[in-house]
Amino acid sequence: MPELRGVKIAGLGMYVPERVLTNRELQQMVDTSDEWIVTRTGIKERRLAEPGQATSDLAVPAARQALQQAGVRPEELDLIIVATNTPDTLFPATACLVQDRLGAAGAGAFDLLAGCTGFIYALSCGAQFVQTGMCRHVLVVGAETLSRIINWQDRNTCVLFGDGAGAALLAPDEPGRGILASTLAADGSGGHLLSLPAGGSRQPASPATVEAGLHYVHMNGREVFKFAVKAMEESALEALRRAGLQREDLDFLIPHQANIRIIEAAAKRLGLGMEKVLVNVDRYGNTSTASVPIALYEAVAADRIRPGDHVVLVGFGAGLTWAACALRWE
Ligand code: ACO
Repeated sequence: MPELRGVKIAGLGMYVPERVLTNRELQQMVDTSDEWIVTRTGIKERRLAEPGQATSDLAVPAARQALQQAGVRPEELDLIIVATNTPDTLFPATACLVQDRLGAAGAGAFDLLAGCTGFIYALSCGAQFVQTGMCRHVLVVGAETLSRIINWQDRNTCVLFGDGAGAALLAPDEPGRGILASTLAADGSGGHLLSLPAGGSRQPASPATVEAGLHYVHMNGREVFKFAVKAMEESALEALRRAGLQREDLDFLIPHQANIRIIEAAAKRLGLGMEKVLVNVDRYGNTSTASVPIALYEAVAADRIRPGDHVVLVGFGAGLTWAACALRWE
C-alpha cells in the first residue's frame, strides 16, 4: 500500500447565536435553581438559536471562518461533512444546504449521525479522504439547534443543552504531522439511554407521538454519566496508543462539553491537571457535535495549544458512541 499522506487542520471556525439563556431564566421556567445546575453540571448559560434560525444557518458562518483561516476558497472544497443530530430537514442533508450556501460547486456533501460524538467521527472520516489522496480539502462541521428538540418543561434535560456550530478545514500535510490517529467505538445496546424516539420509520410523526412528547430528547442521565467517564478515558488512551504516544506525551485535552464533573473525572483518570483541559461548558452548555470544534477553536484562539503540542479530542454520545482523535498541532 502506498504511504498515506498527512492531514492537518488548516483552519477553524465557530458560531454561536447571540441569545443567551441563563440559569436564572431557567429558574422561571422549570423547578430548578442556578445552584443545582452549576454544582451538578458546571453550566451557567447557553446560547439559543432565534426562531427561524436552523442548523445550516449556524453551520455556514462557522464554515466560512474555517475556510478563511485556511485561505481556501469554497470552490476548492472537495467534500463537506456535517455532523448533526438536528438537521434542517431529514433530507436533503444539511451538508448539501451548506454546500449551496458556501458556493462550493462540485464538492460532495453528506450528513453524519453519531450523537454528540459526531464531529470526531466526521473528522476521522474526512481525514481518511485526504490521507488516501481522494480529496484535497475537506470541510468538517458540527452544528446543532438542540433547543428545537428539548422539552422545555423537563428539568432533567432542558438545563443541559445549547445551540452552536464549529468547523474544521482539513488539508494535506507531511506524513506524521497533523491528525495522527483516531478510534471510533459504539455500543448500540445502550441506544435507549439517549434517544429521540419518534419522527423516524419506527414511530412516524403523528398527533399521538406529539401528544406523548416523543419528539423530544429522552435521556437516562445517570447511566450516560457512568458510561461517559469510562469511555472518555479509554478512547483517549487508545487514540494515543494508535499514534505511538504515551499518556505522558499528552499536552492538551479537548473533551466533549457535557458536564464539568464528567470532564474532571476523565482528566483525573488520564492524570491531567485541569490547566491542560479546555472547559467552556459553563458558557455554552452541551452543544453536542458543535462542542469539540468550538472548544478546539477557543483553545487555539487563547494560545493554550501551541505548534508541536500533542492534543487529544475525545467525546461520547447517543448511540451509544464514543471516539477520540490524537493530533500534533501544526
Ligand atoms: N434541577 C433540580 N433538580 C433536578 C434537575 C434540575 N435541573 N434535574 C434533575 N434533578 C433532580 C432529579 O430529579 C433527582 O431527584 P430525585 O433524586 O428526587 O429523583 C436529583 O436531581 C438527582 O438526579 P441525578 O440524576 O442523580 O443527578 P446527577 O447528579 O446524576 O446529575 C445529570 C444529572 C446532570 C443529568 C448528570 O447525570 C449528567 O450530566 N449525565 C450525563 C448526561 C449527558 O452527558 N448527556 C449528553 C450526552 S451526549 C449526546 O449525545 C446528546
